[in-house]
Amino acid sequence: MPLEIKKVGVIGAGQMGNGIAHVCALAGYDVFIHDADPDRIRSGLATINGNMAKQVSKGTVTEEARQVALARIGMAERTEDLADCDLVIESATEKEEVKRKIFTGLCQVLRPDALLASNTSSISITRLAAATDRPERFIGIHFMNPVPLMELVELVRGIATDDDTFESSKQFVTRLHKTYAVAEDFPAFIVNRILLPMINEAIYTLYEGVGSVDSIDRAMKLGANHPMGPLQLADFIGLDTCLAVMQVLHEGLADSKYRPCPLLVKYVEAGWLGRKTQRGFYDYRGEKPVPTR
Ligand SMILES: NC(=O)c1ccc[n+]([C@@H]2O[C@H](COP(=O)([O-])OP(=O)(O)OC[C@H]3O[C@@H](n4cnc5c(N)ncnc54)[C@H](O)[C@@H]3O)[C@@H](O)[C@H]2O)c1
Repeated sequence: MPLEIKKVGVIGAGQMGNGIAHVCALAGYDVFIHDADPDRIRSGLATINGNMAKQVSKGTVTEEARQVALARIGMAERTEDLADCDLVIESATEKEEVKRKIFTGLCQVLRPDALLASNTSSISITRLAAATDRPERFIGIHFMNPVPLMELVELVRGIATDDDTFESSKQFVTRLHKTYAVAEDFPAFIVNRILLPMINEAIYTLYEGVGSVDSIDRAMKLGANHPMGPLQLADFIGLDTCLAVMQVLHEGLADSKYRPCPLLVKYVEAGWLGRKTQRGFYDYRGEKPVPTR
């Protein structure tokens, strides 16, 4: 029987984690959010509050629904506080060793029947599942950014994921008013397998001097009808996440066409990770974004 999910834990209170907690609470789930850095939990909750207020002002959510949803979200200072969750979604930094450690720790506190999911953009679900005591109850639930606005969720079964876990996950994302696409467990799944090489190529285009930041983004917005330019999108995703995904593609598929652009590596080494650090291909510290090259 598929497990009925009532209480959801979210690990990682960054841009994706707070978005996941946001949509879960609005859909009527009790949510507990945990981060290694307690300040990130507090800032995540403030972001959720602000984003729901925007939805109220747009008329897509009522003030009453906002108040009810906010009351459903609790802070989990320790992973032990997630002990009675039915599903825990990990959305921490895109590093395999970080995620494996989180899952190993979680298995010690969760009920044996609880489900585990990762919001990883690229890392093997089968490998992450193998680090747990319940590979059959482990699945990839890959949300898109920004979570409250984007309709798609990719569902990725690991080799051992059982049918009940898949069914529970389908019911869960449907209740969030999302549409799922099923992807096989290969590096970066569907969306990022296609999107990230395009972004990496845009960074090569900048690196080789084919165009400036401004020209590249304008060209793809007006010439390919993309809603935002690829460099703007890279800043939005986070350059550390973009690099991590390219590294997974490069290592996992062993093809030089996935080689991360050295300029991307340089930005990450500088700590210029995009919007979340106020600087990436654009500088966001002033009134409007200014290209950094
Ligand atoms: N950014 C995107 O567009 C996007 C889209 C889909 C999926 N994802 C995936 O979502 C995940 C999170 O990405 P993000 O953009 O929210 O990153 P982020 O940098 O905004 O947030 C990551 C959070 O993880 C926390 N963290 C790190 N180690 C931890 C640990 N051991 N325990 C608990 N918390 C820990 C950090 O403190 C931080 O708050 C990644 O796996 C990423 O690939 C990102």
